[in-house]
Amino acid sequence: MKILNTVVITTVLAIFALQVDVAYSATAEEAVNDANRVESNVEKDGARKPAGMLAFIDLDAGATVLDYGAGGGYWSELFSSTVGNDGMVYAHQNAGERFDSNKDALTTQFEPFSNIKLLPLARGSALTLDNSSVDTVMLSYLYHHMHYVDGSGETFPESSAALMGEFLRVLKPGGTLIVIEHVAVAGSSRTQSADWHRTPPATAKADITGTGFEFVDEAPQLYMNPEDDLQNIWYETGLSGKTTTFVHKYKKPN
Ligand SMILES: C[S@@+](CC[C@H](N)C(=O)[O-])C[C@H]1O[C@@H](n2cnc3c(N)ncnc32)[C@H](O)[C@@H]1O
Repeated sequence: MKILNTVVITTVLAIFALQVDVAYSATAEEAVNDANRVESNVEKDGARKPAGMLAFIDLDAGATVLDYGAGGGYWSELFSSTVGNDGMVYAHQNAGERFDSNKDALTTQFEPFSNIKLLPLARGSALTLDNSSVDTVMLSYLYHHMHYVDGSGETFPESSAALMGEFLRVLKPGGTLIVIEHVAVAGSSRTQSADWHRTPPATAKADITGTGFEFVDEAPQLYMNPEDDLQNIWYETGLSGKTTTFVHKYKKPN
């Protein structure tokens, strides 16, 4: 009788699962082991420690994420299964020639991830997302393009402040901004650190809180390399994937 009951209950649950859109979201481990991830991204896992990062970012099932400057989609792919089939990941790209030549490959790459949407935008244009519609914005390894732009000198560029304003607009109250960036030695200028493709963490914190974000937390020493002197162009000194990197979490005030 007990076996019969179990069979009946299992069958009913299976039929129910087939009939309703069952929400599914992956654990960090499942996201990392997602067979749909492309090899060129999986290869970076040793350096990027995605399970620790996903735990720090702490996305909810059903969340909407903007991966700004998504490049080859390293984080977009991992976020896809983490937010699950009720969530959405916007993989932002700078529109233009480079994107035009990559568009077909990226479209094919993201096809198995039903909730990743490419978001190509002209530089400097507003985000084509609704107010208060996004839970988390990711800025991974591009802040050195934001804290200094040609001719902006030692002040935070207006174009980057405007972009932060756009992030604040599209984020929900309490929504988070994650910044992952190569560390530049403390006290280095914007001009110098941008040349190294790095940012002093204090500069990022001052810039971002100055636009209205609240600083929440930083990932505890996730990426530390005592052999990185923090004042070199990492891709010329053999430190690609081995830089000391900071990870900051900010939030839009409630
Ligand atoms: C080193 S890649 C990082 C890609 C991806 N976020 C990751 O972590 O693998 C830098 C990305 O930033 C984008 N990027 C560079 N400057 C930018 C800017 N001013 N505004 C927006 N995106 C920019 C590039 O197109 C590229 O996709």
